[in-house]
Amino acid sequence: MCGITGYVGYEEAKEILLKGLEKLEYRGYDSAGIAMMDETEVQVFKEKGRIARLREVVDEHVKAHVGIGHTRWATHGVPSRSNAHPHQSASGRFTLVHNGVIENYTLLQQKYLQDVLFQSDTDSEVVVQLIEKFADEGMDAEEAIRKTLPLLEGSYAIAIIDMENAGTIFVAKNKSPLLVGVGDGFNVVASDAMAMIQVTDMYIELMDQEMVILKKDEVTIKNLAGEIVNREPYKAEIDASDIEKGTYPHYMLKEIDEQPLVMRKIIQAYQNEEGELEIAEDIIEAVKESDRIYIVACGTSYHAGLVGKQFIEKLAGIPVEVHVASEFSYNMPLLSEKPFFIFISQSGETADSRGVLVQVKELDHKALTITNVPGSTLSREADFTMLLHAGPEIAVASTKAYTAQIAVLAILANVVAQSRGWNPGFDLIHELGIIANAMETLCDSKEEFEKIASEFLPFTRNCFFIGRSLDYFVCLEGALKLKEISYIQAEGFAGGELKHGTIALIEDGTPVIALATQENVNWSIRGNVKEVGARGANPCIISMAGLETDEDRFVLPAVHELLTPLISVVPLQLIAYYASLHRGCDVDKPRNLAKSVTVE
Ligand code: F6R
Repeated sequence: MCGITGYVGYEEAKEILLKGLEKLEYRGYDSAGIAMMDETEVQVFKEKGRIARLREVVDEHVKAHVGIGHTRWATHGVPSRSNAHPHQSASGRFTLVHNGVIENYTLLQQKYLQDVLFQSDTDSEVVVQLIEKFADEGMDAEEAIRKTLPLLEGSYAIAIIDMENAGTIFVAKNKSPLLVGVGDGFNVVASDAMAMIQVTDMYIELMDQEMVILKKDEVTIKNLAGEIVNREPYKAEIDASDIEKGTYPHYMLKEIDEQPLVMRKIIQAYQNEEGELEIAEDIIEAVKESDRIYIVACGTSYHAGLVGKQFIEKLAGIPVEVHVASEFSYNMPLLSEKPFFIFISQSGETADSRGVLVQVKELDHKALTITNVPGSTLSREADFTMLLHAGPEIAVASTKAYTAQIAVLAILANVVAQSRGWNPGFDLIHELGIIANAMETLCDSKEEFEKIASEFLPFTRNCFFIGRSLDYFVCLEGALKLKEISYIQAEGFAGGELKHGTIALIEDGTPVIALATQENVNWSIRGNVKEVGARGANPCIISMAGLETDEDRFVLPAVHELLTPLISVVPLQLIAYYASLHRGCDVDKPRNLAKSVTVE
């Protein structure tokens, strides 16, 4: 989703801003721009399309040391040059980049800016025009910004430069993520530490409704009352090499391959010196005190939640409901007497999930965030955090975060069960080790999955995934992976539901990928495969060693039955990857999608 970069210092800003934006490309965007300011002028360059196109239009002779940059993912106004950021005020004095959504922008326009001729269709432009209006009334830049911010309803992360404050970037945030990076003789601003990790690893978190006055050797944080806030920087634990593709053609393939390593890292992170799994005592107590757990998440993280529900109910004996965040926020279910909330979010920034967290905190309920990003908004605002330790996930299609989420949920359920004196019946550390090895075997079998993709998927318009029990939840994830990166219409169905309607969609040659990893439903899912086969479908069965038959296309290595989603998803990820490749799609940056969905 939208990304922000900003630099004030002694080096030329241009390349730092552009490189920073390139690091944010993975989040998805449709246009990009930068503005650079020296003592005498501000120059704005923006383009629809990729940053490579922006590079072509940026004047190489500009040598400014202050600048702001933006990648836009359209919400208000189509992707176009005029709607791309930075936006300038009517006189050109102020220049702004903005992430988020200003919900009351039309009202603000009508109330304050009737005389202003707007250059774009965006909600963002209203912010820069308002600042200029208040400056024209006699306020200095800081006052004009401070007067504007409380008028804005919605979410914003903004960076502003002002012709009358040549060495300064003004920064502010509410709900949308934004960080200030601290350097030696320079400072930066970024919506994600990853954008600027090449120039500094020291960052200051900003809280909602704070603004920052950023100069090359000074960072002043203030609240909206103008009072100074002191906050120490922290070291961002991101290895710059983690965000490089290395020899891989795509981040998605690299991240699929990283899954065995992530499993091992998770075992290490949650293991104490006695070699036992351990999580914070207050998390265990909060979970045990609750009479019902509500898992809230979106997309792939929601699918991980569906698997997590099985772990928590089966191992820890607590009933669990799993909800899609965007539905929960406007249609909250009747809550139990002692609810406990688990938010699952790779990025920790998803606006839909955050919206629910805010509601939950208003009701004074306890919440745990399971996330890959320490210090992310969902992590900061929940009572507890469990980290995924998956390393940065760059490809838009989530892979290693999904399996990490499932592993962390298994650890949570296992530790709670043990603290109740219940024996889960297996050694999870040992089983996760087996999972890591099995994942390796699957990653070494890529050509098999490439063959399946090229046989079943190059020309099809749709594809169904069927499974029962845990396999059904993995089918939902397999279908999401395939649709988002190959644009094939793909759906996951519970095998038993087919005959209640969906089977009408089966035509001659329709690919149906079936998972058969659960012993108690092995024969029933095979019955469903026969039903679709009899109606012309082209079935591809992926089964578990010990449950296989001659008709199976691939047999997964045997792992503990409850943990099968951790490995049965790997072939589906790889099949989606190769289908996307064969169809000539942009694997890492699929159309219309953003990595971190920071608008509701
Ligand atoms: C799909 C995918 C999305 C995300 C969803 C939630 O591959 O990545 O469905 O899972 O947007 O994002 P997070 O987990 O960051 O809250």
